[in-house]
Amino acid sequence: MTPEPPPALAVHRLGKAFGEHVVLSGIDLTIAAGSVFALLGPNGAGKTTLVRILATLSEPDSGRARVFGHDLIHEPGTVRRRIGVTGQYSAVDGVLTGTENLRLTGRLLHLHRRRIEERTAELLHRFGLTEVADRRAATYSGGLRRRLDLAMSLMGGPALIFLDEPTTRLDPRSRRELWQVIKRLTADGATVFLTTQYLEEADQLADRIAVLDNGTIVAEGTPAELKQLAPGGHIQLRFADAEQLASAARALDDHLFPAAGRSRTDPAQLTVQVPSNGNAGDIKSVLDRLDSLGIGVEQLTVHTPDLDDVFFALTGHPTLTEPAA
Ligand SMILES: Nc1ncnc2c1ncn2[C@@H]1O[C@H](COP(=O)(O)OP(=O)(O)OP(=O)(O)O)[C@@H](O)[C@H]1O
Ligand SMILES: [Mg+2]
Repeated sequence: MTPEPPPALAVHRLGKAFGEHVVLSGIDLTIAAGSVFALLGPNGAGKTTLVRILATLSEPDSGRARVFGHDLIHEPGTVRRRIGVTGQYSAVDGVLTGTENLRLTGRLLHLHRRRIEERTAELLHRFGLTEVADRRAATYSGGLRRRLDLAMSLMGGPALIFLDEPTTRLDPRSRRELWQVIKRLTADGATVFLTTQYLEEADQLADRIAVLDNGTIVAEGTPAELKQLAPGGHIQLRFADAEQLASAARALDDHLFPAAGRSRTDPAQLTVQVPSNGNAGDIKSVLDRLDSLGIGVEQLTVHTPDLDDVFFALTGHPTLTEPAA
């Protein structure tokens, strides 16, 4: 029997404080090789602190972590050869061209000259940078610069890639372009660990998401599992008049979904909301019940919770910070 390959990342009870300020406390995480993992959290949650520790740029105060089975503290050299990091703040040198930035990264990794040339051409092509390759990076748009930064972190062919807020401050189109690039990374077998403040980004890209708030992981699971945690799901029904509304509210409270809590009536809108995750069985039983009493429904809408609802339910505050000025 072949032993199971180790996970890309295994973190056990990791902690870090700056003086009195505890920034990370008791972090446990396992990330399967070949998957995309998103660490979701607001400003100051501790995302960059965790990435820096896992990328061997900073030491934890307690706990341990392994990258493909290699201990972060005892085998930092081996770990570094397996990882690539794109930091929250760019590693691109504006004075150098795209090509020169990539070559310099290759030299810092002690790659052979021929390998550096091959890899540079390959990465420029793959990230759509060939046309701007001979321009100084200072003249690049934010989206181009971010792509060059990501290309640089892939120079050594890392198996685990850390992306710290890869799309913050990008416009929606550049963000979507970068999502495509990130999706392709796993097609080559790489594992991606990204941090983000954007729920939609985590939802789009990640196989699993952990929510970090105040230095602890408050929830972890697939996007679908996390959405189940939010109480926001409901079926909303609209009626022709106040009388029908009142009869419907009574009928629904009498029999349906005792565990889910009572329905909520909005007399001004002539609507009633019934807690539900929107499954067909719930919808059918609501409509059957009203039909049997001769109550007609004008309109039915289903609200399924999104990750915004989840974040709010878990932390008591919305994740999104003020948009960058
Ligand atoms: N070197 C340091 N010395 C002291 N405090 C620090 C240091 N680095 C980070 N902190 C503090 O640790 C906390 C977490 O910071 P961190 O940068 O990890 O958050 P983050 O989740 O990456 O936030 P953002 O979304 O703004 O990037 C913050 O309160 C920050 O001020
Ligand atoms: Mg950060």
